[in-house]
Amino acid sequence: MKKVITYGTYDLFHEGHYKLLERAKALGDYLIVGVTTEHFDEWRGKINVVDPIMKRIENVKKTGFADMIIVEDHEGQKIEDIQKYGVDIFTVGSDWVGTFDYLKAFCDVVYLDRTPNISSTMLRGSNYKITKMGIVGTGRIAERFVAEARYASGLIVTSAYNPDIESVNKFKKKCSEYEIAIETEQYDRFLENVDAVYIASTHETHYDYVKKALLAHKHVLCEKPLAFTKKDSEELYDIASDNNVVLMEAIKAAYCPGFQQLLNVVQSGKIGEICDVEACFSRIASVNSRERTDAKYGGAFLEYGGNALMPIIKILGKDYKSVSFDSINNELGTDDYTKIQIRYENAMATAKVGMAVKSEGQLIVAGTKGYVIAQSPWWLTEKFDVRYEDETIIDHYEPKFVGDGLRYEISEFVAKIRGNGEKSYKLTAGESIAITAIVEEFVKKKNII
Ligand code: CTP
Repeated sequence: MKKVITYGTYDLFHEGHYKLLERAKALGDYLIVGVTTEHFDEWRGKINVVDPIMKRIENVKKTGFADMIIVEDHEGQKIEDIQKYGVDIFTVGSDWVGTFDYLKAFCDVVYLDRTPNISSTMLRGSNYKITKMGIVGTGRIAERFVAEARYASGLIVTSAYNPDIESVNKFKKKCSEYEIAIETEQYDRFLENVDAVYIASTHETHYDYVKKALLAHKHVLCEKPLAFTKKDSEELYDIASDNNVVLMEAIKAAYCPGFQQLLNVVQSGKIGEICDVEACFSRIASVNSRERTDAKYGGAFLEYGGNALMPIIKILGKDYKSVSFDSINNELGTDDYTKIQIRYENAMATAKVGMAVKSEGQLIVAGTKGYVIAQSPWWLTEKFDVRYEDETIIDHYEPKFVGDGLRYEISEFVAKIRGNGEKSYKLTAGESIAITAIVEEFVKKKNII
């Protein structure tokens, strides 16, 4: 019996997939089809797949060509499968010519002509409207956003808004290769020409910009902190829901595949009951930066608090018993370094954020059987270990991470706009509101609102 194997994502199943499977089956007597997992696709940088794996498997099954369907979830699996199943022929479409020649050491490799003028990428583009995105604020993060948005299909940055002409001019220079319309006067006019906005302006302006955009039926991705009070944050999520638009807080680590994997490991029971979470985020800002000189809205906590609090809320939940802060302030009263202690019924947590103090940017989750340690910078989550009492046992994880992470957040935003991420648990409205509640405690103490 001649065994044939082929692999693919088979997203938005189309004629090209059908014809490939039909011809693959005709090459032998028994066809094995490998369908990629979401995790593997993310790992190899394919972050915009629409159909969940079960639907993609179901579609392959429906063709009747596959005698066996397997999932492909890691690099190097093809060689393992070929040997495991005694495969005679490996085949894929001609878009891969040459890529799989290394498999010739194990079996025959056949590249089948690709069906012209159809692909999942094409369908993803035509089935859904491309989201026109406007950026509010034109600082460094806005520049990075423009560059990263290219990697998340389904969205295009078309305009930017900032009344600060000097900042706009710098942005224009840095982003000169992109066609981005600039608005410096009327926010309402800027909103009229976009479907969604990314709020990357100074902290104190977030709430107003977000509210106006939501009321104008625009989807919103907002940099942290979303708002300064729990009430405001709740109000914004309510407006989003009433207007049927997406509101997402841009805490990028929450959307990274490595951090998702870390959460899964923590929640799997591998380290037992979780008793403590420690997260640190520090970046020394230049002495004259807004973050250090804005006596009211600057400081380490408002800048980085959301980053360090996110894993705590994700892992230990929204129902903490108490929260306390301790800061080292500069002469303006802005915090250079802040430690946040959070107490839960049966657990505790510490978040540390620094703007003029540098510390190790790691995340440690301690449990009754062992602990997870994500080395600095944990928020990119490119590697983490699970360690135990017996120090000779270490489970090491190295999730894939591409770009600077913003593309995962942007892809999640697009998926939500398209209705594919409705049940997404990556950062829920409730969790975002819980983070704002802690922000509120801090700003109350500082007496700035
Ligand atoms: N394929 C094909 N003809 C097409 C599209 C895909 O023969 N028009 C083949 C691919 O070469 C591969 C298999 O179908 O062997 C599964 O491809 P997959 O990557 O899932 O489909 P694409 O449409 O190419 O997906 P994308 O656009 O996301 O790359």
